[in-house]
Amino acid sequence: SLDKKVTSLLKKMTLEEKVGQLNQYNGFWDVTGPSPKEGQAAKKYEDLKKGLVGSMLNVKGVKEVRTLQKIAVEQTRLGIPLLFGFDVIHGYKTISPIPLAESASWDLQAIQQSAAMAAEEAGAVGINWTFAPMVDISRDARWGRVMEGAGEDPYLGSLIAKARVVGFQGDFSSNKNILACAKHFAGYAFAEAGRDYNTVDIGESTLQNIVFPPFKAAVDAGVRTFMNSFNELDGIPATGNAYLQRKILKGDWGFQGFMVSDWGSIMEMQAHGYAKDLKHAAELAINAGSDMDMESSAYVEHLVQLVREGKVKESTIDEAVKRILRTKFVLGLFDNPYKYCNEEYEKATVGKAEFHQQVLEMAKKSIVLLKNKDEILPLNKSGQKIALIGALAADKTSPLGSWRIAADDNTAVSVLEGLQAYKDNQLTYAKGADVALGEPKFVFETKINTTDKSGFEEAIAAAKNADVVVMVLGEHGLQSGEGRSRTDIGLPGVQQELLEAVYAVNPKIVLVLTNGRPLALPWADEHISAIVEAWQLGTQSGNAIAQVLYGDYNPSGKLPMTFPRNVAQVPIYYNHKNTGRPSSNEPESVFWSHYIDEKNAPLYPFGYGLSYSKFDYSDLKLSSPSFTTNGKIEVSVTVTNSGKVAGKEVVQMYIRDLFASVTRPVLELKGFEMIELQPNESKKVVFAIDEKTIEFYTANSKWEAETGDFKVFVGGSSTQTLQADFQFAQ
Ligand code: IFM
Repeated sequence: SLDKKVTSLLKKMTLEEKVGQLNQYNGFWDVTGPSPKEGQAAKKYEDLKKGLVGSMLNVKGVKEVRTLQKIAVEQTRLGIPLLFGFDVIHGYKTISPIPLAESASWDLQAIQQSAAMAAEEAGAVGINWTFAPMVDISRDARWGRVMEGAGEDPYLGSLIAKARVVGFQGDFSSNKNILACAKHFAGYAFAEAGRDYNTVDIGESTLQNIVFPPFKAAVDAGVRTFMNSFNELDGIPATGNAYLQRKILKGDWGFQGFMVSDWGSIMEMQAHGYAKDLKHAAELAINAGSDMDMESSAYVEHLVQLVREGKVKESTIDEAVKRILRTKFVLGLFDNPYKYCNEEYEKATVGKAEFHQQVLEMAKKSIVLLKNKDEILPLNKSGQKIALIGALAADKTSPLGSWRIAADDNTAVSVLEGLQAYKDNQLTYAKGADVALGEPKFVFETKINTTDKSGFEEAIAAAKNADVVVMVLGEHGLQSGEGRSRTDIGLPGVQQELLEAVYAVNPKIVLVLTNGRPLALPWADEHISAIVEAWQLGTQSGNAIAQVLYGDYNPSGKLPMTFPRNVAQVPIYYNHKNTGRPSSNEPESVFWSHYIDEKNAPLYPFGYGLSYSKFDYSDLKLSSPSFTTNGKIEVSVTVTNSGKVAGKEVVQMYIRDLFASVTRPVLELKGFEMIELQPNESKKVVFAIDEKTIEFYTANSKWEAETGDFKVFVGGSSTQTLQADFQFAQ
């Protein structure tokens, strides 16, 4: 059995070799060149040959991977194969929409297929482990990494976590499946003030009810690895946090895989003020349950000594090694360490046509129609003079978004190219203004253009002469992602001025937004007739946007994250608590929970998104007004397409628990179904409510259903809903 194989191998290992399995190095040498002779790289090279490395990250390409794997398998004493990790976040070379965008599709099957495609392409270049999915629930649009997650809702987030894990991992039967990694455990998205890596201080109820569920869903879906996170949580860095890693993950949830640290996060416990030096950091991390050290060199330098000094038990090391070896066995690397190394297959697989077709479909599903006053969309296909304005309209790099390290710049289809395919209209392009000054770079700060308006004149002239203006504005793909927190979540730089200047000469504007986070755009919402949320949609971006603008695809996306009116409302999320002084109580008084200079309501709520069809909800019915233990209620609603074209709608069910041992959110998503309706067609959609639906982490410190009074809401967003009352009694 697997356990026997692992134990028998463990018995043959020296303490040094065991520690080696816990060590992960970043690619330190260009393996197609000569081997390193001096410095850090030479030391790492020697470590590799001595069996002191268990995994590498950021090595890609069959040739490169095979060269390193050969050293591990043929030159080390025990020949234990390496794991090769890489951030395959939304595709490897063929790039899918950013994860936040994909989440807007609410299409779990498509999301699973997208992850499977990414695994297939990455597996073809030798990679056997992706550091995805990021399942951090995020409520703060200032935080740049919201682009990498599934948004603000734990129910949707859990289903998407499962879809992505299953998509990446499959059953490991072939090189089309790779290891997934649920990250960042835990609380990373709750960084104070939305500043990346900042302190996290949240209570147990939020941790259990909001942060944990997608991680638990990933465990239940069989995820093989976890990554901890950079932040501290209530005074303890996640990397050194035994409550998170030992009690919750490996204890309560019975996780069998292993935990990798985040990059240098063991070392960073010194800066946190938690570890006295690197050796102390190693001791704290391993004892707290961090199994593999990514790039701190803390384990490889200090663990052997720490065991000798009795500060770390050898059994603790053994447990971590077993988890890693088990994973290598499950992946099939002991049967064939070169499972992912076939150059011909690599050539035939990377960037193949089917992938492009698949990312195009995913991109269309990810688009959210935010506004369409007077139905100015879809555009007429002929006889129109169209002015296309905005630097992002012609950009072939920005749509690839953040976290796409293997994709080449300039490989996305731009909106300009997408619209050019519709030849019966006359298209004029004017840049208007750059978003960034200079070429935005992955690792360096992007300098926002706040000064150069030299292109305004050309853009205004083009707009004056047009029947309709399409403006593509927003964030460059590298203005969100890790290390890209923002205090202003409007249109970066001079783009707002450009929008207003163009509006002054031609108000018939379709605004296409590209961004990696919710933006606060109250002026645009008030003035612009049509607004299309197009995120960063990946390699096929421009084709997807053009098909939506021209009505060849009817948009059906719904927001997975609330869009605020004003950055000062952040964190803003639909499943908030009520406060003792909610708006409905005394709106005429000053003493209720509100701002004196802004509404409480968001600009666009969670779950919101329009279509070229029109969906009407009626006949909300409950099979019974109450249920008891082991019982259920059926909730039905009729949805009718009263529009002129066929379309898809995500029908959403929310509940509210009116009083409980711990206060509950005003709304919680508990079910959804995507339906497709022809014009004038109606469908009855049925949801079930049972104890599982109403369970939460109660004052008894466990997940359970509490008796009491509830409301159920059904509709096409978190605000447009029909409602009814029900009860749960024991
Ligand atoms: O996977 C990432 C993580 O999300 C952030 N720090 C670096 C890791 C490896 O690249």
